[in-house]
Amino acid sequence: MAASPPVHSTGSAKRRSPWLRLLGGGAAAVIAAAGVMAVMPDASAAESTLGAAAAQSGRYFGTAIAASRLSNSTYSTIAAREFNMITAENEMKPDALQPNRGQFNFSSGDQIYNWATQRGLKVRGHTLAWHAQQPGWMQSLSGSSLRQAMIDHINGVMAHYKGKLAAWDVVNEAFNEDGSRRTSNLQGTGNDWIEVAFRTARAADPSVKLCYNDYNIENWSYGKTQGVYNMIRDFKSRGVPIDCVGLQTHFTGGSSLPGNFQTTLSSFAALGVDVALTEVDVTNSSTSQYAGLTQACLNVPRCIGITVWGVRDSDSWRSGENPLLFDGNGNKKAAYTSVLNALNSAGPGNPTSPPPSTTPPPSGDGTRIVGSQSGRCIDVPGATQTNGTRVQLYDCNGQAQQTWTLTSSKQLTVYGSRCLDAAGSGNGSAVQIYSCNGQANQQWNVNTNGTITGVQSGRCLDVWGSGNGQQVQIYDCNGQANQRFSRS
Ligand code: G3I
Repeated sequence: MAASPPVHSTGSAKRRSPWLRLLGGGAAAVIAAAGVMAVMPDASAAESTLGAAAAQSGRYFGTAIAASRLSNSTYSTIAAREFNMITAENEMKPDALQPNRGQFNFSSGDQIYNWATQRGLKVRGHTLAWHAQQPGWMQSLSGSSLRQAMIDHINGVMAHYKGKLAAWDVVNEAFNEDGSRRTSNLQGTGNDWIEVAFRTARAADPSVKLCYNDYNIENWSYGKTQGVYNMIRDFKSRGVPIDCVGLQTHFTGGSSLPGNFQTTLSSFAALGVDVALTEVDVTNSSTSQYAGLTQACLNVPRCIGITVWGVRDSDSWRSGENPLLFDGNGNKKAAYTSVLNALNSAGPGNPTSPPPSTTPPPSGDGTRIVGSQSGRCIDVPGATQTNGTRVQLYDCNGQAQQTWTLTSSKQLTVYGSRCLDAAGSGNGSAVQIYSCNGQANQQWNVNTNGTITGVQSGRCLDVWGSGNGQQVQIYDCNGQANQRFSRS
């Protein structure tokens, strides 16, 4: 089936899509008649939480969470309100998850995962292979035995969280300050241990983004930064699966925001990986450093999000340096405001948001829904059919289970029973996609211009920034680029 011609879009006047600008007032009348615009809040209003403010430009704002603190209501209230990405501070590390060889214990990791996802927050996995926080039995291994233990650990942990996480820090802190490899028991198994970890991880869960994560790689001219950069470049040139680099961004203990931070981010990104700031804290919460690191991320299209390493100063691993965005009483600090203002100044329709792909759409049999600019389509492999289950969406060019049918009740249905939902998200927010059979907000229109609009929500879907076969991010796309879909 040929793509339908564009007729209208769902954008506010300020951020309306190129199609709407071309079509002018007639199209607006069509939209009004369809009742779509009436449910759109003012997209230009400043957001009042870090997560919502970051989402305006398609990014997330996260925090590290300690399971033992979740029972503190001040802590959990701030965490749930302000952040939309969660990292377990210690609970998904090797010593926590496999205390005895072959015996996994997911209780604390799952506590954090469940707390987050029950509140609609995403989760980053941290970390699979690291010289530190290994269980005692692993510390005493070496050679092929340790190599096998690393592989077994990755397989065991990733099987448990398969399809559930946004990213995994597959390997953590494997470099020395001069850019050479850190001496460790893992390094002792052979220089290829890092790529073996990544290949194992990709095979274990093809849906999750795979990251290398390290500290002191923020200064572009620093030896360690160059060492990591050269490894990522080598991996990309040889097809070793890697999707992202996490820059921990601990500007504390003598380290501070380098003037070339944005250069570092854009240089990594130019290798074809996403970048993220994964463990941010700053000595005495310098407002200029917090604003600067936030702006650097906003200026780089493939900088997908920022995570601070704790909620309140009193929760920090370096609490004596007061390095976070909330004080010990849970009050917002000046640094909080500097970050929020920077995020809001980027706003929706941020020109530095990830650019649309220009890949031409593949031909199909008329049952797929394909991004008209990206050529990518949407899929829900491996999702259960349980009502309310959050599903994973994939780039599905060439993948199984890629067909969608628009039913007479306007549901997008995959194999009979799963459908899409964007309940609970605001304009410009990353939306949650749920298995929604029987849930509210489950009907969608495929518009004549190829956009997909929630019948109740008026929100639509977008797919950008992902490669073939990779998990894609679906956004509320009022006024954002690349928001058109067609049946193919
Ligand atoms: O849970 C035990 C507790 O039962 C015991 O009484 C207490 C005694 O010291 O220790 C507690 O465990 C501590 C754990 O944090 C939880 O508080 C460990 O000793 C302590 O070593 C551990 O520190 C963590 C550190 O990683 C370990 O390397 C920090 O919380 C955590 O913030 C920190 O996070 C790392 C990232 O994973 C990687 N990048 C650097 C970052 C900061 O060091």
